[in-house]
Amino acid sequence: MKVCRTIEEVRGLSRGARSEGRRIGFVPTMGALHEGHLSLVRAAKAECEFVIVSIFVNPTQFGPNEDLERYPRPFERDREMLEREEADALFAPDVEEIYPPGALTFVSVEELSGKLDGKSRPGHFRGVATVVAKLFHIVEPDAAFFGQKDAAQVAVLRRMVRDLALPVEMCVCPIVREADGLAMSSRNAYLSLQERKAALVLSRSLAKVRAEFEAGQRSAARLREAGERVVAGEPGARLDYFAIVDPDSLDFVDEVARPTLVAVAAYVGTTRLIDNVVLG
Ligand code: PAF
Repeated sequence: MKVCRTIEEVRGLSRGARSEGRRIGFVPTMGALHEGHLSLVRAAKAECEFVIVSIFVNPTQFGPNEDLERYPRPFERDREMLEREEADALFAPDVEEIYPPGALTFVSVEELSGKLDGKSRPGHFRGVATVVAKLFHIVEPDAAFFGQKDAAQVAVLRRMVRDLALPVEMCVCPIVREADGLAMSSRNAYLSLQERKAALVLSRSLAKVRAEFEAGQRSAARLREAGERVVAGEPGARLDYFAIVDPDSLDFVDEVARPTLVAVAAYVGTTRLIDNVVLG
């Protein structure tokens, strides 16, 4: 696996592979890799002949009081994991390579970026859209792979790709969970043993909503109440949002009549965790 630090290097590799007729798959990450990321790499390997993974902890998607400084950066471990998955290239630029001094250009997906996580984390999706647009221009992939765990991010990026006519196929892969149901996340590393137990309330609340839905409940208000009650029963967690929305527009729905996103975000200690399920 080739490790690239510069735009020129990774673009050269990508263009070289394309000129040999290979399909380029791209998995953008912020590192601290876990099975969820590896499932994206495997999906990319299954569909593409040349797979590029990026590791870049993107400063513009962190708010001023968020965890940019303490975000885990186990680079050597990540590199070995990608080597084992037989990724073809790892792009790991430093901040100045992506944001040259004086950079003034951002990509903003209006409205959608202010919903769900975007409401709790102002500016977050502007940072995500900007870095992903830049990475797409740098890597020039045919297909890019994202996790369904970040459902609002998926909605924002799908819209960006459509609106800007970016020639990239968006591939979204299922959430990968620990055996006890906790959705895998790099931020799980922050949790103490006790917090790790409290964190299970997210998947438990979604399981409750799914059970109510399967028993015939279609009212979004009722389903949301059921989910919120489960979270309220866990003293170690503080709810940020429990939302039942259209997966593309992220608008609230009244009834679960077509595929509907049920998304939850909660703080466990100081760690903000998210999870979701699609019903219908
Ligand atoms: O999902 C992530 O890890 C990040 O938001 C992404 C897509 C790599 C952009 O920094």
